[in-house]
Amino acid sequence: MKKEKISVSKKVLDLSLIEGKLSAFERVPYALEAKLSKPLAKDGYGTVTVDGIPVSRGKTFSMDMIVHVNYLLVPIGEVAREYGREYTVCFTGFVAENGAPFQDLTVKVKTTERDKQDPAYREHDEAALAVARESIVLMKNEGNVLPIPKDSCLNLFGSGQYLLRNASTGAAAINPRWQANYHESIREHSSFSVNEEVSALYERLQDVTPSAEILEAAKKKSDTAILVISRCSGEFMDNRPIPGGYYLTEDEEAMIAAVSGSFEKTVAILNTGYPIDMRWTEKYSISSILYLGYPGQLGGYALMEILDGRVSPSGKLPDTWSFDYYDNPASKNFINLKAEDKIPAQDEFGVHLYYEEDIYVGYRYFDSFQKKAAFGFGHGLSYTEFDIRSKALEFENGRLALDAEVENKGERAGKEALQLYIHAPAGKLEKAERVLAAFEKTKLLQPGEKQSLTLTAEAMDFASFDETDGCYKLEEGEYTVYLGGSLESSRPVGSFTVTHTQILRQVNRIAQPVESFHRLKRAEPFVNADSKTVPLDERITHPAERKPYRVCERDAYRGPRIRWPMLKANPELLENFVSQMSDNELCKMNVCGGANWYLPWQNGAAGKTNLLSKYKLPRLLVSDGNPGLNIKKKNIGFPCSTNVAATFNKELAYTVGRVVGEESLENGIQLNLGPAMNIHRNILNGRHPEYFSEDPYLAGTLAGMHAKGLEDAGAGSCYKHLFCNNSDTARKASQSIVSEQALREIYFRVFEVALRIQKPSAMMTSYNSLNGIYPAENADILQSLLREEWVFDGFIMTDWGSYDTIDPVEIAKAGNSWLTEGSGKYVKILQKAVKDGRLSRAVLEENVTWLIKTMLKLV
Ligand code: BGC
Repeated sequence: MKKEKISVSKKVLDLSLIEGKLSAFERVPYALEAKLSKPLAKDGYGTVTVDGIPVSRGKTFSMDMIVHVNYLLVPIGEVAREYGREYTVCFTGFVAENGAPFQDLTVKVKTTERDKQDPAYREHDEAALAVARESIVLMKNEGNVLPIPKDSCLNLFGSGQYLLRNASTGAAAINPRWQANYHESIREHSSFSVNEEVSALYERLQDVTPSAEILEAAKKKSDTAILVISRCSGEFMDNRPIPGGYYLTEDEEAMIAAVSGSFEKTVAILNTGYPIDMRWTEKYSISSILYLGYPGQLGGYALMEILDGRVSPSGKLPDTWSFDYYDNPASKNFINLKAEDKIPAQDEFGVHLYYEEDIYVGYRYFDSFQKKAAFGFGHGLSYTEFDIRSKALEFENGRLALDAEVENKGERAGKEALQLYIHAPAGKLEKAERVLAAFEKTKLLQPGEKQSLTLTAEAMDFASFDETDGCYKLEEGEYTVYLGGSLESSRPVGSFTVTHTQILRQVNRIAQPVESFHRLKRAEPFVNADSKTVPLDERITHPAERKPYRVCERDAYRGPRIRWPMLKANPELLENFVSQMSDNELCKMNVCGGANWYLPWQNGAAGKTNLLSKYKLPRLLVSDGNPGLNIKKKNIGFPCSTNVAATFNKELAYTVGRVVGEESLENGIQLNLGPAMNIHRNILNGRHPEYFSEDPYLAGTLAGMHAKGLEDAGAGSCYKHLFCNNSDTARKASQSIVSEQALREIYFRVFEVALRIQKPSAMMTSYNSLNGIYPAENADILQSLLREEWVFDGFIMTDWGSYDTIDPVEIAKAGNSWLTEGSGKYVKILQKAVKDGRLSRAVLEENVTWLIKTMLKLV
């Protein structure tokens, strides 16, 4: 029988990289990727040894997103842990699905040298550390177990200690110039030592329960135990309400029970990209909890500063942490995949998601329906205490201003995030109990030091949307203002009265639902859980009316050829520049020129404009990444956006954008495909860490500041994904069914808040459809909302490969300037549509004009 082949193409392994998208589901650091010529038989897994030591079973999967390949991910990082060393890896005894044995394979792999800090980027690295420092949230600190005395020996439990997850996988992954994991951070940035006997237990990445002898010996070294709980999260796959996902695994629970039962003081570090089960923190005696999130390249250093008390924590939760997943209002209207479900392809089946929780997203639900959460929105402790006093309150001309004073009453320096919430009076419209309408972070306050701050809020930030007449309103009655260091601890500090209901804005009716569905109301406090998967061709059972996008014909340009340098010098020639293009050329520009991902010499950019050399048109290069540049060359690696949100610090969000912008330009990337700012509707959305918060005001403000930083640096920003990209399961065929009020107050609102701060260079439509039509092909969204209501003057692009489930011609017809990631095939489809009269030249000219106008700014 002919033998099948196992092959390994990458023989140099970068130990600093957490394997990205492919291993998102497993704890497989530094995995070796082997290609299989045939799929593996069910029981065909052989043995893999690294320098003669067997490693645990890896993960096999087929990748059919781009080309069909069968992979095997082998966790050689269990053994190959040293930098700059050669290891021998042997594969034996593997059998293919067709019964044929695989040829044994022996390969030598080398691990890279550890990266060092590049002094030229010291300031940027400092910024990454500053953001990480303020993003760590002290959720609990009973008996002031934290900080831990200097020079202590740390008893570290849990396999998570060997893999500091610094970022999400997928589009927002980082590729930092240098970084430090837990053990490196302890060695390099603290006075702590490590109890090696305990850590050795976890080297094979299993969450083993330590023996009584080891626990007793450990207690002699230090009275404190530190548990590291780790979860991966990222694009392409949602997290699951299963052990190892939202819930603890049996191994983790047994380990936690043994450790917390033995030690008097137990600290838990949550290195997760999303909220996880919290019941165990009550069941076992856990004294302190630190939410580390995904803290970027220097998160380990920041953690050390907090553990030893050099820095007092000042992060606040940007999301509600419930005790259980099913306490969350959107949990029943989500596709909760089971452990045995494979990761579905992006368009494997249709998904109907009913946003039954309506406006009651996150804390708006817990607060309004008086549900107890484990840790509420805005919560975060410090090593010091603050006294927050309100001074003057004024509401005039739709603007609220509150003067406040904060005093550090404790014995350590620290920062506080002031949060202002508004309770609106009950009226005709459904309203959440309180909404965040302003926040400010103090400077570093020394013990006894005071700071005065003014918090301002616009009426739109606490208005309600009336679906009966399409208006944002302030209903009449008394509005109470709450101020505090979290939602729970905030207290009423004053009120103002609106004597007659005020109409703030009348708007176009956009993306209204086309089918009726149950909506959570104060008076109807239940959800039906109607969401489901359906066959692919039933993904839109109630199609919305497609509104045409009509553009006036332009006069043909008959003058001499205008080339790019001339246009640059005379931007008023823009329309003529575009009009001189032939139909075919316009089609070419309306399609992205492909990604630079696939070939070894390509830089990893996600997209580029097609070239028209005749006009000397230069390239526009775009790349991914909120927290850095997702390209092949190493660069900055900030904490993920959920961490940025946890800082509640506008200046830091600005710095993130500014530094990413500077490094983008240095790398020849003129536009960064971020910030992504979809609402944390369901905590198990795989892209949770890539997005900011469950609250549109917090998310929109920090995303807007991030974009301002990018644009001030001279790089373009791109708001994404419009709209309601709140889950990744079969994401190209998923439909969000949402009320107009929820769209206006939550899902559109986040973008509106950001736009108030910064107009981006581009916006990206979402993969999912919304109320019976995909936003990418919805002229009502692209024109009436983006262009008319929001006066957006950049260009609009689809998300990558959206044309897999949307007719590419309809995308262009609606006014989308860039079909991504594009290829000659899509240029031809548009060209044929022009010939057939399905697509007008006038629309193409308009689309391309927006693109070139943005290029004039950026290139
Ligand atoms: C993601 C986008 C990203 C694009 C380009 C898509 O898979 O959804 O957020 O910008 O890829 O990489």
